Order: sequence, then structure tokens, then C-alpha cells
Amino acid sequence: ELLSQVEACLQPFQLSQSRLVDVSHWLRRDLSRGLGKHSHHRAAVKMLPTFVRATPDGTERGDFLALDLGGTNFRVLHVSVGHEEQRVVTMDSQICEVPQDIMLGTGEKLFDHLAQCMSAFLNSKPELQGKTLPLGFTFSFPCEQKEIDKSILIRWTKGFNCDGVEGRDVVQLLREAVLRIGEYDIGSIAMVNDTVGTMMSCGYRDQSCEIGMIIGTGTNACYMEEMRNVKRTEGEDGRMCINTEWGGFGDDGSLQSVLTEFDLVVDRESLNPGVHTFEKMISGMYLGEVVRLVLVRLTQEGLLFGGETSPDLLTQGHFETRYMSDIEQEDVGLAQAQVILTGLGLKAGPVDCRVVRLVCDAISTRSAQLCAAALATLAKRIRTNRGLQRLETTVGVDGTVYKKHPNFSQKLQAAVRVLAPKCHIKFLVSEDGSGKGAAMVTAVAQRLARQSR
Ligand code: BG6
Ligand code: GLC
Repeated sequence: ELLSQVEACLQPFQLSQSRLVDVSHWLRRDLSRGLGKHSHHRAAVKMLPTFVRATPDGTERGDFLALDLGGTNFRVLHVSVGHEEQRVVTMDSQICEVPQDIMLGTGEKLFDHLAQCMSAFLNSKPELQGKTLPLGFTFSFPCEQKEIDKSILIRWTKGFNCDGVEGRDVVQLLREAVLRIGEYDIGSIAMVNDTVGTMMSCGYRDQSCEIGMIIGTGTNACYMEEMRNVKRTEGEDGRMCINTEWGGFGDDGSLQSVLTEFDLVVDRESLNPGVHTFEKMISGMYLGEVVRLVLVRLTQEGLLFGGETSPDLLTQGHFETRYMSDIEQEDVGLAQAQVILTGLGLKAGPVDCRVVRLVCDAISTRSAQLCAAALATLAKRIRTNRGLQRLETTVGVDGTVYKKHPNFSQKLQAAVRVLAPKCHIKFLVSEDGSGKGAAMVTAVAQRLARQSR
């Protein structure tokens, strides 16, 4: 009786195979629209040119600085490419906190903070004193790039919302902040989305890596597209990496039939209502919140915790996405559920713990399946682009949801196999971040310049 009532509440989260195929078809249409010369202005999936035209061939080398902003941590890195056994080595890196008042304050304060973190890092490294290294800047937000070093923020997403940055060139804002500090110089800058950084750093290890995917605080992917299909950029030859910004899929209403009432509330209460519909069903910034809203509903219906909520359960953001990973753990999950729920001030018995686990499972499964539908769409597009019977490719992946959740990656991979049977996809988890990939982008550009001389 109880279980069937819980199942009724979770039913809208269950996506049938044919519904996933629909999602994939809608996205396929949106990919073309985003690439179109005129249609891209109105496209929900932005398909942004990145000016990255080649993946690594393994001969790149050099020393670089990198910044990595937009995920869980902001980092400054010193990266060395190709010196030791042809590897990308992070010589050193430092996490620098970005407090919430800066994430929601003025752009000037944000960039001053970034420049100061870089200054502190450089000051702690005598070997870098007085050197002007090229800088790779991983900036994990949608940007309209005009070149590799000109990158205009279209809009903030996830937890950032700083005044005076949207519509401006992020490279220029960073340079101005460095000048204001006046302590050091920076050399050439390459701007990179985290998906691109992930593809490039995985690409150094595996040269068939042509897709980068993030399932972390936000979700997104990039892939190598044929230039002849990128109608909004000059040139017909070769390929260019396209940052899809698939998080925005559904912003034109196309996903209406898969959205639940809980998704609508998550959107309404977010920093950016109406924006990044797909991301809000998938990524770490939102999944826990979807679960929380369902738990509140079940409690109010008397199906959980003896019908009693708690202040924590009723507070936005207090059911964190990482709890889902703990609760869905195979052996210790139920015991951990008990600890977590008690910590949230709830009276949780064994049955409650089981029900909460069902809820977490339904919502993380939906997330994995939606990602799978999107990834299958990209793989199929690459296969068709190249007229192949069968595509063998590698996707570089990063992000806390993919890496930390106990069965997310299995579910995603299983669903992709069904949705894209003619594509054989290898999943390569990125090692220590996409900052390294930003350095790779600079290294590849230098290699190409060297080769063309
Ligand atoms: C990291 C990248 O490894 O992965 C970040 O360096 C990126 O730039 C991140 O945004 C995604 O993961 P999360 O879970 O921290 O958002
Ligand atoms: C958001 C950003 C996107 C980024 C993704 C993953 O969707 O808009 O640029 O790649 O999060 O971090």
C-alpha cells in the first residue's frame, strides 16, 4: 500500500525507452538549429564555436599557468606539458576559495579576487618569479568566442551571478584586474570551457578522444564538428570543437512533457528561472533539491517520517546532492540514510530509509538516462558526419556526480549502448581537472604554429 503510493509519486520521473528516443531526436534537431547561420540566435542549445581546431597529437610541450573557475573549486595551476614521458603534469596547484558574496557580487570584485589568488600563487613559487607564462583559463560558463582569446560571457549559470560581466569580454576583465594589482604580467590567454579542457586533457592520453562531458555542479558537453557544418564561422575545412551548452536544452519548451511539477519548482526557486532546463534535471547543483521537494511531498501526504517535516527538510538546498551518493551506496547506504535523515532533524525508521533510497534512485536514474540520451545524440551525429557504419570514439568525462555517485556511470553507459548501438564509446575519466586541458589548448596552438613555420 505505502509502496504503491510512493511509486505513484515517482512515476513521472520514470522515462520509457521511447521517451528517451524522443529526447534524443529533439536534441538532434536543436544541435542543427544551434549550428545554423541564422537560426542560432534563437536556439536553446547554443552550439558555441570554441576556436579549438585540433586535439593533441602527443608532441606538445611547454610550461603554462592555468586558472579553473566554475566548478566546485577555483584553482590556480602551474602545468608542464610533455617533459616527463610525454605527459601533462600538474607541477603544482592551489585551491582558492570564492566566497558566496563574491559569486553574487560585482564583476570587478570577482576578477580582483581571481587576480589576487593568482598573485598569491606566483609569490609562493620562486621558480616562476619574473617569468611570463602563457595562461589557459578554464571558465565554465557559456561564452560567445570571437577568437581563442576573446570570449564574451552570454550569461551566468549555476551559482554565479556577478553584475557587469554578461556581454563583456572575460579576457579583458581579467587583464584589467591584473593591471589593477600591478604586481605581475600575464602572457597570451586561451579561454576554454571545462568540457573543452576535459576533452583536451583526456585527448593527450587517448587521441581518439573527441567528446568532453561534464556532469558536476552543471552539465554540458563539447565535441569535434566538421567546419562545413559550422555555418556561423568562416571556413569549410577541418573540424572545430563545439561547446554545445546542452544545459540549455528545453529552454524553448521542448522538454515540457518530461518535466515534473518538482522540476518546475526547482526552476522557479533557482538563481536563473527559465534558463538551463536540462541542467536542472541532471546536475549536482539541483538533484538534491529535486529529492528534497519529493520528500516534503511524501511527508505531507503522511507517507514518510510519521508525517512530520523538520526545518531542514523545509529549507532550500539543505538536502545536498552528495547525500544521494551516500544513500545509494550498496551496503552501507541504508545505515547512512539513517544518519543523514536524523541529522536533518527527521524521525527516520527503517522503512523511511528505504523509501528515501527509492526516491534518490529514481531521480539519479533519470539524470543518468537523460545524459545518456544527450551523449548518444552527439555520438550519432559524429558517426553520420563521417559516414561511418560504426564509430569508435572516446569521451573524456569529469564532474562530481559522475565520479562520486556509486552507480551513475554504469547506468549512463548502459543506456548509451542501447540508444546508440552503432557507436562504441569508451569513457575516460579526466585526471585532476580541466585546468590542465586549458594549458593543452595553448600547447596545441603553439605546436600548430611551430609546424606551419
Ligand atoms: C573539474 C574541472 O575537474 O571538473 C572544473 O576542472 C569543472 O572546471 C569540474 O567545472 C566539474 O565538476 P564539479 O563537480 O566540480 O562541478
Ligand atoms: C554550465 C555552464 C557550462 C559548463 C557546465 C559544466 O552548464 O553553462 O558552460 O560547461 O555548467 O560545468
